Amino acid sequence: MAKTPEYEIKAFGVRVLLSKHPQIRRLKQKHYPTFYGNRLWRSSWLLMDYFHRLGLPKGSKVMEIGCGWGLAGIYCAKKHHAHVTGVDMDHEVFPFLRLHAQINGVEIRTLGKRFGGLTEKHLQDIDVLIGADICFWDENIHPLKRLILRARRAGVHLVLIADPIRSPFEKLGAYFVEHCGGQMLDWTSEHPRCIRGKILKIGSISDRPPFALHPSDIGKTA
Ligand SMILES: C[S@@+](CC[C@H](N)C(=O)[O-])C[C@H]1O[C@@H](n2cnc3c(N)ncnc32)[C@H](O)[C@@H]1O
Repeated sequence: MAKTPEYEIKAFGVRVLLSKHPQIRRLKQKHYPTFYGNRLWRSSWLLMDYFHRLGLPKGSKVMEIGCGWGLAGIYCAKKHHAHVTGVDMDHEVFPFLRLHAQINGVEIRTLGKRFGGLTEKHLQDIDVLIGADICFWDENIHPLKRLILRARRAGVHLVLIADPIRSPFEKLGAYFVEHCGGQMLDWTSEHPRCIRGKILKIGSISDRPPFALHPSDIGKTA
């Protein structure tokens, strides 16, 4: 199908199809994401901007939780050669993720799980855990808190959760700032337009070098 520029946007080297794109319209006739996974949410751009500025070692193993269309993970795979798993409790989001993985020329593993369904075994090989716009209800706070603690116990080096600063996210962040040395970073991305929010950062890529760094990545600490 011919590419129609007004049907898609591109930033950080990643292509995103808009809702009116014929392929998205076709998918929307068959698949009905229920828990807001029906489009790309803007905090994903904050994560892309973070890695664009601070880097991500090539070959990192990244898990995106509450991935929806999975664009933050797709960015990590496309621009940093990361091995990415997209996790969502709603299987209906995965056709949209697969379409975006395909048009961006990357492979993303998918896993249908709730936050609470991810065990230490799922997390033990993961270097970086990311999520965008996933703490939008108070009910999300407890499972996310437990998941992040489990991830750190399993050896995940860096956790980054981006948000447009909803109150449940602020509560989640306050816990990790107080108890686990987390940081709430004010973040602005200028692409694809001005987007402001916060990123909860726990740990660091350089906590324990988990893998051989590519020579071009030495000195970068995401
Ligand atoms: C607001 S959307 C954000 C999607 C994507 N991260 C983005 O930025 O475009 C929230 C996503 O989190 C998923 N989600 C919500 N609660 C979840 C849970 N307890 N376990 C796993 N996924 C969950 C939803 O299915 C949905 O895809």
